[in-house]
Amino acid sequence: MQLPQVELHLHIEGTLEPELIFELAARNNMELPYATLADLRAQYEFKDLQSFLDLYYSNMAVLQTEQDFADMTRAYLSRAAAAGVRHAEIMMDPQAHTVRGVPLKACVDGVSSALANSEEEFGISTGLIAAFLRDQPVEGALAVLEELLAMKAPIIGIGLDSAEAGNPPRNFVALYERARRAGLKCIAHAGEEGPPDYIRQALDLLRVDRIDHGIRCMEDEELVQRLVDEQVPLTVCPLSNVRLRAVGTLPDHPLLRMLERGLNVSVHSDDPAYFGGYLDENVAQVRETFGFDAGQLAVLASNAVRSAFLDDARRREFLADIAAWLDGQ
Ligand code: ADE
Ligand code: ZN
Repeated sequence: MQLPQVELHLHIEGTLEPELIFELAARNNMELPYATLADLRAQYEFKDLQSFLDLYYSNMAVLQTEQDFADMTRAYLSRAAAAGVRHAEIMMDPQAHTVRGVPLKACVDGVSSALANSEEEFGISTGLIAAFLRDQPVEGALAVLEELLAMKAPIIGIGLDSAEAGNPPRNFVALYERARRAGLKCIAHAGEEGPPDYIRQALDLLRVDRIDHGIRCMEDEELVQRLVDEQVPLTVCPLSNVRLRAVGTLPDHPLLRMLERGLNVSVHSDDPAYFGGYLDENVAQVRETFGFDAGQLAVLASNAVRSAFLDDARRREFLADIAAWLDGQ
């Protein structure tokens, strides 16, 4: 039996592989600024979050039709199944598409049609999360959220992503109040590049259920103690943090210290087409780097299950499968 894995921090647009970028560009009669796959791949060197976001937004221009969104999502699900993923909560960035003139319905229907078949086709249960761009005004985010609610988009929650430094959670209080009123779960990126105080703001002002990344909490002992006491889920993405230079190298990553400190951390993949690996690769590399034993791997997997937006029966089923896996080690 494989250790059941739960993916909680994944941007579907960050799964767009170079080959699919070329395929979609050809299908949509678009000219790419790169002649070959090798030319495109040569761009995948990042100095920080913004340098990655520039390429990420530029590449997603090839996503034009509902079919494009569905194909990208199916490709991800197929790869995730191979990585042992049994449940995935997937973010998409609607504003990154509507700003280019793509109808909201095309992206929502494309992604959600692939997700609707996921359990049957890939054995992966899913949830869709609409993430909003924190480097854009809250008014635009609110308008898109209202549109999503009006069209009854099958979303389970909202998130907050894009350039973090200088774009604090406090700017999005109205968005999160509206989402909560609509019964949606609330998550936000915080403490990836931004300071520990953004994690506090996400908890106190946005009242989030989970923090994406959160690694910079380690600079603030009082905050760490609170996160431990409240067992706030932190969805950590080790390969992303290295590639975006939030940490120097993988051995410098705070994951082991976070785990030993009793934080509710789990391992995820963020934008796997850009950062050198899907969930299996993230887990394999931290296992190798930190020498995690089966017990520690089971704790990481259980933390993800505890932190997922699952019903109790499914949560118990995963926890039992993790316990059975551990017994077999
Ligand atoms: N959008 C896609 N990936 C992101 C990340 N790692 N941080 C912030 N916004 C993102
Ligand atoms: Zn992310």
